[in-house]
Amino acid sequence: MEKLVIQGGRRLSGTVKASGSKNSALPLMAASLLGDSGEIKLSRIPDLKDIRTFRKLLDYLGAATSYSDNNLSISTSDIRCARAPYELVKQMRASIYVLGPLLARFGRASVSLPGGCAFGPRPIDLHLMAMEKLGACVTIEKGFIEARAQGARLKGATIDFPITTVGATGNTLMAAVLAEGKTTIRNAAVEPEIATLCRFLNAMGGDIRGIGTTTLEISGVESLNAAEFTNIFDRIEAATLLTAGAITGSSITVTDVDPTHLAAVLGKFEETGCKIITDSGAVTLQSPDTLTRTDVIANPFPLFPTDMQAQWIALMTQAEGTSHVIDKIYHERFNHIPELNRLGAHIEIRNNEATVRGPGKLTGTTVMSTDLRASASLVLAGLVAEGVTEVFRIYHLDRGYERIEQKLNSLGAVITRESYQEFA
Ligand code: EPU
Repeated sequence: MEKLVIQGGRRLSGTVKASGSKNSALPLMAASLLGDSGEIKLSRIPDLKDIRTFRKLLDYLGAATSYSDNNLSISTSDIRCARAPYELVKQMRASIYVLGPLLARFGRASVSLPGGCAFGPRPIDLHLMAMEKLGACVTIEKGFIEARAQGARLKGATIDFPITTVGATGNTLMAAVLAEGKTTIRNAAVEPEIATLCRFLNAMGGDIRGIGTTTLEISGVESLNAAEFTNIFDRIEAATLLTAGAITGSSITVTDVDPTHLAAVLGKFEETGCKIITDSGAVTLQSPDTLTRTDVIANPFPLFPTDMQAQWIALMTQAEGTSHVIDKIYHERFNHIPELNRLGAHIEIRNNEATVRGPGKLTGTTVMSTDLRASASLVLAGLVAEGVTEVFRIYHLDRGYERIEQKLNSLGAVITRESYQEFA
């Protein structure tokens, strides 16, 4: 296995680029299953473990894929298999994204249930509810979701989500785009990744209106074509890099960013006393002498993202005063807290609220990654901890950050990637 070894206490400076968005790339790759001819060309696809896993899944289904320099070509005309196996789905919950497209294109889909998640329950009931509304018969058999359209095609319907869900909105869009008639999705997720999926589906010949709003209207079409499409930048990676600047008291610039996707996070940085300067496609963060405590509540877009909650808690360990961080999306997503406390932080957790007492001196030690964003928070804490921090099990980090140690080192951090053996 690999670990990151971080020499803490360095100031950062300079400019670094954000990569393409993981959480947008995955549904774009799933949507490629809907095109029955030609070659889909996606650019700005990050080189990440999750992308490689999803590519393996597409290949397993019969797609022909090739990848170089962040460009991914996908040809799905020869797909014959509509079954996503447990071995691949268990590695990545986003595999559920193949349910809608396979069902829409082939009238049937068999997708393994994803199994457990490191940060608490992540049900898929709303994905299944939406497929049923679109006319599919859905059963769970031997650990697999078995879905079948009742006629030749799915049928348009009105789907009213009781809560905001990115994944179920995406799956519904990909199923409805080939359904017969009109579908309305109410209380649709408005995350930039969903708006991007809508734009890609329209580029393939779909007919989706209301993009970026909570009501999406989809007029089903009979088939979709290949298309060329550029993915959006990764707003969570960009925000994580900016946090690296803030936690080390530095001034840095992150380019290849859409600041409109980051408004809530940038507003919170300003509350901490950081100066934020946005310039088309770039954000500069200048740290204050002392960070001011700033509470956040993680909620659906455009509010503060749950995918930045762990990193924010790391930042608040260095802010003056007591801050409160609440996660309203994943109530149990707090595995990073015991590890941050091992570095010397003072954080208590009660229900879905973390109370962080800062500023405290962190001291390097070995810590364990438990999930993607938890790992990022440990790396951030390691940047400011005195001495050496070793972050173990960084395969979690590699799922969603493209060469993060190289990016941070280019700003002046001192991080090495080393192999190690875990005790059995
Ligand atoms: N939910 C249900 N039933 C469902 C689906 C969701 O109750 O059928 C609940 C979830 O348990 C959660 C809430 O709805 O409480 C929102 O979940 P959502 O469906 O929006 O999450 P997701 O689509 O599974 C994506 C991202 C996550 C990110 C969430 C929230 C991808 C591949 N994953 O997950 O990203 O945290 O949206 O923004 O896009 C990450 O990148 O680290 C990550 C976990």
